[in-house]
Amino acid sequence: MNLMSAPIVVVDLQQRLRAAGYVADEGLATALACAVTLERAVLLEGDAGVGKTDAARALARVFDARLLRLQCYEGLDLAAAAYDWNYGKQLLAIRAAEANRAATPDLYGDDFLIRRPLLEALGATRDRGVVLLIDEIDRADDEFEAFLLEFLSDFALSIPERGTLSAVHRPLVVLTSNRTRDLHDALKRRCFYHWIDHPSVAREIEILRLHLPALEPRLAGDVARAAAALRSGSLRKPPGIAESLDWAQTAGLLGARHLDADTFVRSLGAVLKYPEDIAWARGAAAEILAAAADDGLA
Ligand SMILES: Nc1ncnc2c1ncn2[C@@H]1O[C@H](COP(=O)(O)OP(=O)(O)OP(=O)(O)O)[C@@H](O)[C@H]1O
Ligand SMILES: [Mg+2]
Repeated sequence: MNLMSAPIVVVDLQQRLRAAGYVADEGLATALACAVTLERAVLLEGDAGVGKTDAARALARVFDARLLRLQCYEGLDLAAAAYDWNYGKQLLAIRAAEANRAATPDLYGDDFLIRRPLLEALGATRDRGVVLLIDEIDRADDEFEAFLLEFLSDFALSIPERGTLSAVHRPLVVLTSNRTRDLHDALKRRCFYHWIDHPSVAREIEILRLHLPALEPRLAGDVARAAAALRSGSLRKPPGIAESLDWAQTAGLLGARHLDADTFVRSLGAVLKYPEDIAWARGAAAEILAAAADDGLA
């Protein structure tokens, strides 16, 4: 499937994402299908480890698109996000021209332009689309968010030495945020919005079995139910899917075929990352293990 083959049917996309290793529920698949079909950016918010970044990776696989990732951080500026000039190369070119008494080459030509993800994303073609992942936008400053407003409206970048460069085909933009701060309404207005929740037990089992095909089915069920029980407790950092995957793998490595009390205690460091959370889980071990073993839950 190509990014240009819109409209995209939701169940179709869901199946293709699954074949690409990503289990999306109907809500997420709908948001992604709308974003692709209407050529709008999509903003995925959710707790750490719920699959925000991987959703963009999976989309790129489904559409055989180039994945360009811009990791945001405080102080991110245009030189790191959009483009920069290779000053060292420019200087060498000037010196070489002087030494050879030749004309100085065009110092603002393609040879000296460093393309960062936003500029690179404007190069999407009909044959090969681009998924532009702007990851953890909540870590960037207000100024960068304001700049993005312009970028997402016009899909163009103005380079003073070169003029304005516009996309012929729009990239599919996926923004993610852990919601460490609220984003501006103006940015949200330009995006489809989807909150990715922690998975249901059934979906987490599916994810565990997809990532770890050799895992004992019973252990996958126990870990998914125990992870859900942990999330319903008052933890400082509830486990994401990444932690469940580590937990299942660790329990498997310890030789467990199901989550017994001994494995539970020995493997807690794979799933909880704060001493107070581990202490809480040890205290609540009996209830968590009872929930894990209760396959009436899924
Ligand atoms: N729906 C899913 N289907 C398959 N794998 C998933 C899914 N959700 C998460 N995962 C897996 O869980 C792990 C964490 O996912 P990811 O890194 O995308 O989370 P995130 O929300 O971006 O986390 P963070 O906020 O820490 O960056 C990855 O290994 C990913 O493959
Ligand atoms: Mg991420």
